[in-house]
Amino acid sequence: MAVALATLASLALTLAQAVSPLVSQPGDRSALAGWNMQSILDASQNMTQLSLPGAVDVSSWYRVGARSTVMAGLIENGVFSDEQLFYSDTLATGVDSTPFTAPWLYREEFEIEYSPQPGEHVFLDTHGITSKASLFVNGVCIASHAFHQGSYGGHRYEITAYLREGVNVVLVKAYPTNYLRDFAMGFVDWNPYPPDNGTGVWRDVEIVQTGAVSLSAPRITTDYEAANIQPDELAHNVTVTVKVDVVNHEDSPITARIQGTISDDNAQVAVAEHSVQLAAHEETTVSLAARLEDVRVWWPRQWGEQPLYSVTVNASIADTLSDVSPVRQFGVRQVTATLNAHNDTAFTVNGHPFLVLGAGYSPDLFMRWDAARVDSIFRYVLDMGLNTVRLEGKQEHPELYEMADRMGVMLLAGWECCDKWEGWSYNDDAPGYKWTEHDYTVANASMLHEAAMMQTHPSLLGFLVGSDVWPDDRATQVYVSALERMDWATPIVASASMRGWPDQLGPSGMKMEGPYDWVPPNYWYAGDGQQFLGAAFGFGSEQGAGVGTPERASLQRFLSEGDLDALWREPDAGLFHMSTNVSQFYDRSIYNEGLFARYGKPTSLDEYVLKAQMMDYEATRAEFEAFAALQNAERPATGVIYWMLNAAWPNLHWQLFDYYLQPAGAYFGTKTGSRHEHVAYNYQDGSVYLINRGLRTGGNRSVTIDLIDRKGKSLLMQQHITNVTSTPNTSGRIGTVSGLDRIKDIAFLRLLLKSEDDDHDGGDTIISRNVYWLGRSVDELDWENSTWYSTPVTSYTDLRATMKLSRATLRADMVETERGSDFAAKIVLDNESDVPALFVRMVLLHAATGEEIVPVSWSDNYLTLFPGERLEVEVEADVGDMKLDDMRVEVAGVNVKKFSLV
Ligand SMILES: *[C@@H]1O[C@H](CO)[C@@H](O)[C@H](O)[C@H]1NC(C)=O
Ligand SMILES: *[C@@H]1O[C@H](CO)[C@@H](O)[C@H](O)[C@H]1NC(C)=O
Ligand SMILES: *[C@@H]1O[C@H](CO)[C@@H](O)[C@H](O)[C@H]1NC(C)=O
Ligand SMILES: *[C@@H]1O[C@H](CO)[C@@H](O)[C@H](O)[C@H]1NC(C)=O
Ligand SMILES: *[C@@H]1O[C@H](CO)[C@@H](O)[C@H](O)[C@H]1NC(C)=O
Ligand SMILES: *[C@@H]1O[C@H](CO)[C@@H](O)[C@H](O)[C@H]1NC(C)=O
Ligand SMILES: *[C@@H]1O[C@H](CO)[C@@H](O)[C@H](O)[C@H]1NC(C)=O
Ligand SMILES: *[C@@H]1O[C@H](CO)[C@@H](O)[C@H](O)[C@H]1NC(C)=O
Repeated sequence: MAVALATLASLALTLAQAVSPLVSQPGDRSALAGWNMQSILDASQNMTQLSLPGAVDVSSWYRVGARSTVMAGLIENGVFSDEQLFYSDTLATGVDSTPFTAPWLYREEFEIEYSPQPGEHVFLDTHGITSKASLFVNGVCIASHAFHQGSYGGHRYEITAYLREGVNVVLVKAYPTNYLRDFAMGFVDWNPYPPDNGTGVWRDVEIVQTGAVSLSAPRITTDYEAANIQPDELAHNVTVTVKVDVVNHEDSPITARIQGTISDDNAQVAVAEHSVQLAAHEETTVSLAARLEDVRVWWPRQWGEQPLYSVTVNASIADTLSDVSPVRQFGVRQVTATLNAHNDTAFTVNGHPFLVLGAGYSPDLFMRWDAARVDSIFRYVLDMGLNTVRLEGKQEHPELYEMADRMGVMLLAGWECCDKWEGWSYNDDAPGYKWTEHDYTVANASMLHEAAMMQTHPSLLGFLVGSDVWPDDRATQVYVSALERMDWATPIVASASMRGWPDQLGPSGMKMEGPYDWVPPNYWYAGDGQQFLGAAFGFGSEQGAGVGTPERASLQRFLSEGDLDALWREPDAGLFHMSTNVSQFYDRSIYNEGLFARYGKPTSLDEYVLKAQMMDYEATRAEFEAFAALQNAERPATGVIYWMLNAAWPNLHWQLFDYYLQPAGAYFGTKTGSRHEHVAYNYQDGSVYLINRGLRTGGNRSVTIDLIDRKGKSLLMQQHITNVTSTPNTSGRIGTVSGLDRIKDIAFLRLLLKSEDDDHDGGDTIISRNVYWLGRSVDELDWENSTWYSTPVTSYTDLRATMKLSRATLRADMVETERGSDFAAKIVLDNESDVPALFVRMVLLHAATGEEIVPVSWSDNYLTLFPGERLEVEVEADVGDMKLDDMRVEVAGVNVKKFSLV
């Protein structure tokens, strides 16, 4: 008996030791580590009871992470598997939605060092719970779902009075989500909805301990005004103002000392302080100013470096620490947006016109946050040459902004279209419930919270308070005053379209005129002088040819045999992995009509996928090239956001790479079209453009033009455009391709942009190489019959002869080039034949499993080699401990038989 007791006692001791207090002194802040999650249908309905320490046995509940929607939690617990949910139409047929129509409970026990001293305070901070929640601490309701609403409605609650010695409990009752009724994160027509509509505690819940005075997160403004600064120059004499909100939680006046520190990578660079007298329960804002003599300016990656400073503020009372603000990262840079003479929005960064080339971001279908995945996505953005990501109502977590700051990716944040967010009386296009009085309160809380999260980050290019439709005057006023309250320092844009605008903000200067579905590559050039719809002029906030077809290896992971058959055999079939079944984009009929007419009816899945990659490559290259080429046109192209960057689940379209991060045709079309210094062909009129999107790149250039037929025979005397000057951040037309009238069926056009400057390795260095396959005529667009999503083609370019090329002999060699943390290899390709080797794709595979290694960076891919041409391509990937022998590269092209390189 004595032995048994001793064992129990030591067990109790071990348990007690295992739980360390979440917070123990002023300035401590910790997120709850995770939750026990259960449906209310399988738990007691008595929240008071459930939120008492030790009152419930949660061993049968699901243990989930700190940020977890209901579905994410069920997947984490093996109730569902995402590979299964993503397969074919399982999401529609294999999930019972009943459990998601009732609330779900999230319960967590935590310990704090309980000290009921006067002047000690403990808070619970939320950052948004979908769709709304009641919160309980130790049997007390601290917030009702009538108040705690919206995926972005974060709030602070004081819980000091309810805490106990030892174990304490937080219980969240999360209510079901209806995208039309609630301020949630909807997917509109992007993809099928998650069965729970994203319900749950998707962001951290934190416990914070302070003394008598507490601090908000710091906000930063600077007086920096970029006067034509260059990326290698320092800014001088910049005043940085750090603002914090300070609250006295006591019944008596207090004097607090507020001290702020600014540090760079190496050291503290400035300190400022201020003493403030606060009346009982007073809240005030304290500003601390510091002057920095020599400042390294923050730049988007395409232009320069990303020096960052961090700032932290503390409050002390009589030399005792009362609170420490969260550390925030900032960079010194200036962003502006103005309407140009054509009423198009044009951005500048650090005083230089900033042509936005970007794409629309999607979170994971179940809102699972995976920092490594987002890091890969942002690397892909930069690898493709893009500079901006649009976040349409999917603002994710603070880490996303830190990542963008470090990597130099600009972010265009904003609220989402349609659904509840755009429930305006004048919006007849979307069925979101119209706003009532209380909704403005939720909108205010959401805007205040998100602005506070984003404010310091140099990656912010602006915030769009509306998407398809502008907010009403009252909501605009709520949003703008909340942003101003948080010292918002970048442009506030009324919406992503030009349908109307609130007086307070004026027109957005952004167009949303489509396309969202397939259009031929010459579409983008119709804008030059004619200015049709989505063509390359002004600022297109979401548009593209709808492409992004995954390669076969990905397709086989999420499509059944029947789905795969339908994909190529039934060109008009509705497909579950396109947009939702009520959407215009449920089928691929417009795309397939183009594919069948231009490349010929496919006779196998492989042939369909190959032709799709060619269509996709043509589509994205032309869109980005046209916007870059026309940045100085009479009506300048000022920016374009491709619809979209990535998908929430394995999708067949609207993405630049697939859900599994495999880059394919759309990716390399973008990567070619978005080169910082580049030469491009205008499909519409045969002209050639020199593109320069750099600030430091430029000089004396020449362009060599070759046009050959499918037998490799030249259709023109090799043409040279010499003595052209490449000017930083400037594009222009430099000539026209001759010999196009000699095309019999198809031809291959190669543009080589070379440097003639001595500093480029003795001149003649190829800066950009770009190959097009062309038909006898261009696609004819029927502009007058355009819809909001596409422009019909009345006569297609005939590219069928691309499939009749004689076989090309390609030699390839691979050598490993360097071995840092990443694997890097160089592949030399030799086209030993007298015909072009068309659309040669290389894939890096695990030798053992045959799986593609991702994420991966290819210097170029899906490329076309001229007869006798030799090219070097580099590939890099993080492969852990694998050696060259563990990998192989598969090479194949339209007229190149598949072979492996080991
Ligand atoms: C809920 O639980 C509390 C605490 O155990 C108890 O006092 C209360 O009576 C219960 N309420 C109902 C309706 O059962
Ligand atoms: C999800 O939201 C849609 C409205 O967008 C609604 O029709 C549906 O019933 C919701 N699903 C659940 C499980 O509440
Ligand atoms: C720096 O700026 C401040 C405020 O604008 C000004 O008073 C001061 O003279 C400037 N100092 C130098 C060295 O330029
Ligand atoms: C507050 O911050 C200042 C500046 O970094 C530091 O010197 C001071 O020690 C901090 N105060 C307390 C009480 O930690
Ligand atoms: C730009 O907008 C203003 C005000 O809305 C209007 O007066 C002006 O005519 C517009 N300019 C052009 C070129 O459309
Ligand atoms: C928004 O909320 C803040 C904080 O509660 C409040 O001070 C402000 O008056 C609100 N703004 C509007 C327009 O309701
Ligand atoms: C190159 O262009 C410059 C300026 O347009 C001109 O002065 C020069 O003569 C040209 N050189 C040649 C070799 O054509
Ligand atoms: C628009 O489509 C209709 C019906 O197909 C056709 O009759 C008409 O000619 C088209 N308009 C133009 C301008 O091509």
